[in-house]
Amino acid sequence: MSNRERKAVIKMEHVSKAFHSLAGDNLVVDDLDFQVYEDEFVVLFGPGQCGKSTILNLISGLLFPTKGRVVVSDKEVTGPSPERGMVYQTTNLFMWYNVMKNVEFGPSVRHVPKRIRREKAQYYIDLVGLKGFENHYPIKLSGGMQQRVGIARAYANEPQLICMDEPFGHLDAQTRYLMEAEVERISSKERRTVIFVTNNAEEAIYLADRIILLHNCPTFVHKEYVVDLPRPRDYTSLEFLALRETITNEMDHTL
Ligand SMILES: Nc1ncnc2c1ncn2[C@@H]1O[C@H](COP(=O)(O)OP(=O)(O)OP(=O)(O)O)[C@@H](O)[C@H]1O
Ligand SMILES: [Mg+2]
Repeated sequence: MSNRERKAVIKMEHVSKAFHSLAGDNLVVDDLDFQVYEDEFVVLFGPGQCGKSTILNLISGLLFPTKGRVVVSDKEVTGPSPERGMVYQTTNLFMWYNVMKNVEFGPSVRHVPKRIRREKAQYYIDLVGLKGFENHYPIKLSGGMQQRVGIARAYANEPQLICMDEPFGHLDAQTRYLMEAEVERISSKERRTVIFVTNNAEEAIYLADRIILLHNCPTFVHKEYVVDLPRPRDYTSLEFLALRETITNEMDHTL
């Protein structure tokens, strides 16, 4: 299907964002323009501090553009909404709630009846591989397990769009590979529009339908890559390694 026929869930329309301070304006996003289509898994890939989290905060409605518009599902973003689920760089779980209460938090705020929200939460807890841990508190879980809870919490709210901000950046390499495979499995079972931020080329190629390579701060779209390798992807295949080399080399031109 061509992009013209697909429904755009996110439209970033010539978005700029500057932070104001006494020292002057700091332009972080400069005329950023892209779209993300329904059920697409898009990875925003860019160097450290280029403005990746700022872009997700603009999409989630925690920040507002200085210029341009952010449109999600045909509506201009005017603030946070349960229609946009977030998974953060750090887990951001409620440490005083157990796993079940963390996952059912969104539906409970929306007054979904207890039996229905329990069923829903249990479905996503099982999906992320945490069956049996429903009554555990986050403090007793490993970093990878905490991120699984964060992912289940985002999906349990059944948002139109899920934004993930370097969710595995703090995990050890082995757990990170495991979690990438888990996200691949979950997103192929629960098709959603996902925008996933990383500064790891391997992770980007493993997960993305399309990679948007960002320019260094102030950031904008430097280049895009459609990744049409069969899933689940093999990190060591020649095609994977060739694309990794292309993207890594191109990244040098973003600085
Ligand atoms: N609320 C804010 N006020 C002022 N400056 C900010 C604010 N948020 C971000 N910045 C600045 O914007 C720039 C980009 O930050 P941002 O966190 O978006 O980058 P990032 O690509 O997510 O970084 P990282 O790779 O470390 O996650 C940084 O220079 C940061 O200092
Ligand atoms: Mg960030």
